[in-house]
Formats: sequence, C-alpha cells, structure tokens
Amino acid sequence: MTLTATRGRQEIFTIALKRARVIIACRDVEKGEEAAASIRAVYPKADVEVRELDLADTCSIRAFAQKFLREVNHLHILINNAGVMMCPYTKTIDGFEMHIGVNHLGHFLLTSLLIGLLKRSAPARIIVVSSLAHNFGWIRFHDLHSQGSYNSGLAYCQSKLANVLFARELARRLKGTNVTVNSVHPGTVNSDLTRHSTLMTIMFTVFALFLKTPREGAQTSIYCAVAEELHSISGKHFSDCVPAFVAPQGRSEETARRLWDASCELLGIEWD
Ligand SMILES: NC(=O)c1ccc[n+]([C@@H]2O[C@H](COP(=O)([O-])OP(=O)(O)OC[C@H]3O[C@@H](n4cnc5c(N)ncnc54)[C@H](OP(=O)(O)O)[C@@H]3O)[C@@H](O)[C@H]2O)c1
Repeated sequence: MTLTATRGRQEIFTIALKRARVIIACRDVEKGEEAAASIRAVYPKADVEVRELDLADTCSIRAFAQKFLREVNHLHILINNAGVMMCPYTKTIDGFEMHIGVNHLGHFLLTSLLIGLLKRSAPARIIVVSSLAHNFGWIRFHDLHSQGSYNSGLAYCQSKLANVLFARELARRLKGTNVTVNSVHPGTVNSDLTRHSTLMTIMFTVFALFLKTPREGAQTSIYCAVAEELHSISGKHFSDCVPAFVAPQGRSEETARRLWDASCELLGIEWD
C-alpha cells in the first residue's frame, strides 16, 4: 500500500493496524521517518517504510516509481492524499502552477506509472483525496496554470475538481480490470493545510472544536481503501463514508476526457 504524504499519522497507523505493508511517500523524509517511528512505538509489528517523493517534480515522481517497481511486487491500495492549498503563485520544477501541478498532475503521473503494478496486483483500489471545494471549481482549459490571472482559492478548487474528474475518467478506463478508483472529501480537518492562508488559519483555530481531527478526517479514505462492500464500486465520490454529491462540472464526461488528454500532453505521456 502506498500513501502520499500526510501529517495525519493516525491515518497511516489505522491502516498499519490492518497489517498492510505501508509505504509513506513524502517529500520530507525526516518528517516521514518521525511519523513511521511514532507508529512503530505504539505498534511494533507495523510494517511501515518511508520513501522520498516530491509531487512538484516529475523527475522525483519517475525516480520514485522506478525504484518502487524494481523493489515492490504487489500494490493493492494507492491513496493519492498529498495536497497544497492557497499557496502564493508558485510553479513546480516542471513549470506547472503549484495547485494543479501537485494536487492533480503529480498524482496523475504517479498513478500512470504504477497502474501496471496495480492491475497485476488486482483486486486493487485507488483513492483520490479531493474536497468539497470541487463544487466551486471549474477547469480553465485556456489558462490551466493561472498565468492570465491568479486566485489561490480558485486554483485550489480547480485542482480539487480535477481530482474528481480524474477519478471518474480513470474508473471508466479501468472497467473490467478489478482495479477501482473513487474520490473522497475527508471533511473539514484540523491539519496544516491552511499554512499558506492567515485568514484560514485563524478561522480553523477559532472553530477548531468543530473540525475533524486528522484521525477522523482519515476515515473516509480508509473506508474506501478497505471496506468489503465497496469491492466493485468505482468512479464514485465519498464523504463521511457514504456516497456524496458531485457538482455538475465534476460529472461532465467531456470535461473529464479533455482534462485527461490535456494532462497527458502536459506530462508528455501516452496513457490509453
Ligand atoms: N484539511 C481539510 O480541511 C481538507 C478538506 C478537504 C480536502 N482536504 C485534502 O486532504 C488532503 C490532505 O490534506 P491535509 O488536510 O492532511 O493537509 P496537510 O496536513 O497540509 O497535509 C498535506 C500533505 O501533503 C504533502 N505535500 C505537499 N506538497 C507536496 C509535494 N510536492 N510532494 C509530496 N507531498 C507534498 C505535505 O507534505 P509536508 O508535510 O512536507 O508539507 C503534507 O504532508 C489534501 O489533498 C487536501 O486537499 C483537506
């Protein structure tokens, strides 16, 4: 099982409890090792390891996948969880706007590189962590990287809509493979996601009591990863461990296909 970076280490812990081999893929290996150590301290038998992966750098993603494919024979669950929100205008190493680059394109490339292994390991599941914010997004094909105008909130919403569209289109393409893919809204979680927005950080601090803890926020992803009754459910969106509403722009097959093609072109890959 592979899980892209999270600070909600309880999430990893809960999955580790299920006796999976858990690979934490993160850009800050030291932080990842701290999380792994804290899991082992509570659950010595946990099979947890940490590998370096920077989703803002396609070379890092390719290097991660290459090593992974060389050394790991089975992959049953891939959780595309890492994300950035409302950061100042920045670009990834490859020149993609940071939100679309990390939240969507990074996971898109990673999944494409691991999909063969997932298929060979079937039954397998992919979980794409999106957000309720997808409701407020639209895909700006004419300016995917917000070069014309930039609003950090809208850039985040666009990337989270891209997560929903990616999961739906991938589910369509994976029909009959026994590899399923669903997207998830984790809830409003007291995490470090607001680090780039002072206003959001203040709001999250004031309303902390009403927010989910990282452990609670992880439950829907874990549910989608392991629930028996979901073994054949694919292309759906979940929140609070039940199917959730998807905005009309997240249900458009045409937009999903167009985004797929645009993503392949930007990444220079062919993925039929
Ligand atoms: N918190 C919420 O209320 C909320 C609501 C809806 C959806 N979500 C979604 O939930 C997911 C997890 O977010 P969170 O709330 O747990 O926030 P978080 O605490 O900030 O965790 C995000 C993780 O993504 C990692 N990350 C960022 N850029 C990366 C990169 N280039 N390469 C690899 N890893 C990278 C961060 O690594 P570092 O630790 O190294 O910075 C961090 O571990 C995100 O996809 C987010 O959009 C969260």
